Amino acid sequence: MTAIPLQLPRRLLEFTLDGQETRVPEGSTLLDACRAAGKDIPTLCEGDTLAPKNACRVCVVEVEGARVLAPACSRKAEAGMTVLTDSPRARHSRKIVLELLASSTDLSTTPRAAEWIKEYKAKPERFGPDAARLDEEPKIDNDLYVRDYDKCIQCYKCVDACGEQWQNSFAISVAGRGFDARISTEHDAPLTDSACVYCGNCIEVCPTGALSFKSEFDMREAGTWNEEIQTETTTICAYCGVGCNLTLHVQENEIVKVTSPHDNPVTHGNLCIKGRFGFQHVQER
Ligand code: SF4
Ligand code: SF4
Ligand code: FES
Repeated sequence: MTAIPLQLPRRLLEFTLDGQETRVPEGSTLLDACRAAGKDIPTLCEGDTLAPKNACRVCVVEVEGARVLAPACSRKAEAGMTVLTDSPRARHSRKIVLELLASSTDLSTTPRAAEWIKEYKAKPERFGPDAARLDEEPKIDNDLYVRDYDKCIQCYKCVDACGEQWQNSFAISVAGRGFDARISTEHDAPLTDSACVYCGNCIEVCPTGALSFKSEFDMREAGTWNEEIQTETTTICAYCGVGCNLTLHVQENEIVKVTSPHDNPVTHGNLCIKGRFGFQHVQER
């Protein structure tokens, strides 16, 4: 069953998007308008279950009359504005963002990163082999999930999901400043000594795979992770009466990870430790 949330009707705003008259409900972002018009704008720090953070700037568009480019993910559409999504200035800015991120971070598990780097003719290699990198081993301090901060773009989505926007555990935050800024537990303690409750809601929002299920991490290491042959089956969590929807990701008859649909009005993509990680017993046949 698909739940359709009830809401008051919203006034339509009219503005020009890449030369076309466009109408969107009041409160829509430019990204909403672009998506409704079938325009493919790259995004990384934007999340459909989180308030925008404006951290990555890969989604920038040009708003006529504005001094600086606007992040499409958070800039609200206004009546009468003129927006260019594919101007040379916007494309150049996206290219630079991709070059900076790809030269300093491992984007090998970021969906679509390679495609965008090609599309925007980004050349991360121009910064040479000495470009600033964390060069840190993945943190494997528990059996449920792995933190590989070489892949972290510091988008803050995990911090928001763990903190005030969803879980209210505040187990992870930004530590350090400038080049030393990184996502960390308090005093860089192992997760097992932190306030983490292993809900995995941070994994769900991480756009780069810096946070991943241990099962996925192990399979990637072994070269057996293959999303092309995985199936997804949505069911109901049987652990309690809340009735969260679970999406079981199955490869070769084994559950390899569990997510929840982001449009589910109960979970909004979030789960607890039982729904997220309590699937091993299904396989103890
Ligand atoms: S698993 Fe949950 S509690 Fe632990 S760091 Fe992630 S969001 Fe926070
Ligand atoms: S670990 Fe993932 S979600 Fe958290 S800041 Fe880094 S890239 Fe973003
Ligand atoms: S996706 Fe818009 S600023 Fe990151």
